[in-house]
Amino acid sequence: MKTLRFYGLTTLILFLGHGVVIGQSKQSTIKIEDFDDAPIISKHIYGHFAEHLGRCIYEGFYVGDNSMIPNTEGVRNDIIDALKELQIPNLRWPGGCFADTYHWKDGIGPQENRPTIVNTWWGGVTEDNSFGTHNFLNLCEVLDTEPYLSGNVGSGTVQELADWVQYTNFKGKSPMSDLRRENGRDEPWTVKYWGIGNEAWGCGGNMRPEYYADIYKKYVTFMSDADVEGGLYKIASGASNDDYNWTEVLMKNIPKKMLQGVALHHYSVIDWSAKGSDVDFTEDLYFKTMKESWLMEELIVKHTAIMDKYDKEKQVDLIVDEWGGWYEVAEGTNPGFLYQQNTMRDAMIAGMNLNIFNNHADRVKMANLAQTVNVLQAVILTDKEKMILTPTYHVMNMYKVHQDAKLIPLSFESPKYTYEGESLPAVNASASMDDSGKMHISLVNIDAHNENMVSIDLNALGIREVTGRILASDKLQDHNTFDNPNKIEPKDYKDFTFKKGVLEVELPPFSVVVLEGIK
Ligand code: AHR
Repeated sequence: MKTLRFYGLTTLILFLGHGVVIGQSKQSTIKIEDFDDAPIISKHIYGHFAEHLGRCIYEGFYVGDNSMIPNTEGVRNDIIDALKELQIPNLRWPGGCFADTYHWKDGIGPQENRPTIVNTWWGGVTEDNSFGTHNFLNLCEVLDTEPYLSGNVGSGTVQELADWVQYTNFKGKSPMSDLRRENGRDEPWTVKYWGIGNEAWGCGGNMRPEYYADIYKKYVTFMSDADVEGGLYKIASGASNDDYNWTEVLMKNIPKKMLQGVALHHYSVIDWSAKGSDVDFTEDLYFKTMKESWLMEELIVKHTAIMDKYDKEKQVDLIVDEWGGWYEVAEGTNPGFLYQQNTMRDAMIAGMNLNIFNNHADRVKMANLAQTVNVLQAVILTDKEKMILTPTYHVMNMYKVHQDAKLIPLSFESPKYTYEGESLPAVNASASMDDSGKMHISLVNIDAHNENMVSIDLNALGIREVTGRILASDKLQDHNTFDNPNKIEPKDYKDFTFKKGVLEVELPPFSVVVLEGIK
């Protein structure tokens, strides 16, 4: 027996002997709970992450303005178009581990004067700093997305970070705003979201939480709120997985007025020393990945409980600014570049994690998939002039309807997905109501073999008409390639009935379905 919590509701999941068996499939009933007091699902849950790592920035986003590949100020137009379609709400940059080695002043001004930097964390390659602050912040304007800058705490200085804030945000006359103007930018960009270091417990400086909490306070003291409506939004480098002590120490020692968000990193990795192939995996590895992915639910519940202890009013947000699948790099690629293909397994990770974040929208206010292009669970892969959209891209695109919509809490007993005596909930779901009164419910069936049926009574919502989209494929290992870029893409979905306000949905094995209901 296991306890599941979906936004304040506790549902007992009996992993044995429940559910009505229909051939290979099982039926469960989803109940819609009262949602008058439910939170808004922050659009920032659908955020992304672009690090100087492998071919994410250089060769991915950035090809330079002399490239034959159509670009805007050096950034590929096909990537810009794809991300605009996704309506990405924020983009985190420049790392990751790289952030604590990055000196932003090396990436501004005339190209010929910029020093190089050796990317010590990722492949030891030498970068020419041609993609810097102006490039990134101008890109965010083109994408209509909020920049989220990760400051260098590990090897930088308090002054350096304070200067970066002044350079990007200050309207008046000052040494840094004058320098910005000299470099061709008059108006500030007004960057609200700032990370104070990254993984301070590891690549960000191997600190103890007590030490980091002090350092955090020192850094943010000198970061000016000037010219930013509502002030800066400062995010503390957070725990790795189940390091609950990290969250506890930060919540206890940092005054709330200095802290808007506490981060959490969790990757769906099965074993750091044997991560398994990106495309050539067995059901055994698939099941283990799903287990790691589902762990996000427990991590959020437990980190939230600690935050609740110190912050009942929920003034400090939980920011899952790194999540996603992590496998061995694709065969024949640089081990330091973390390039991996993206299969239906990744679609399951994406759908499941986004459902979890939606259901915890009262505390989780931002999340960043790692990473956007050519790295880890990417939404976009490139090969010279070619570009493909991954199954993860399609899930994010189907789910964007939840951005800034009101959560509709659900409760149900999921059928189980059992593999060699172990079980996981086969179906996960979340639902929301947008400003125009449209209802959306996203459903994921992770079962590798069995379809599952769910039934939902929508009468309380006054829904009269339902349409749907599905992402599914024949094999879990299926993926899009540069030769076959549209093998996996969302299709209209009709395998449901809607009679007298009751929706009966048939979810094929390893599928993601998003339904829209209108009144
Ligand atoms: O996303 C890749 C790396 O994973 C990041 O640089 C680091 O923060 C994390 O360990």
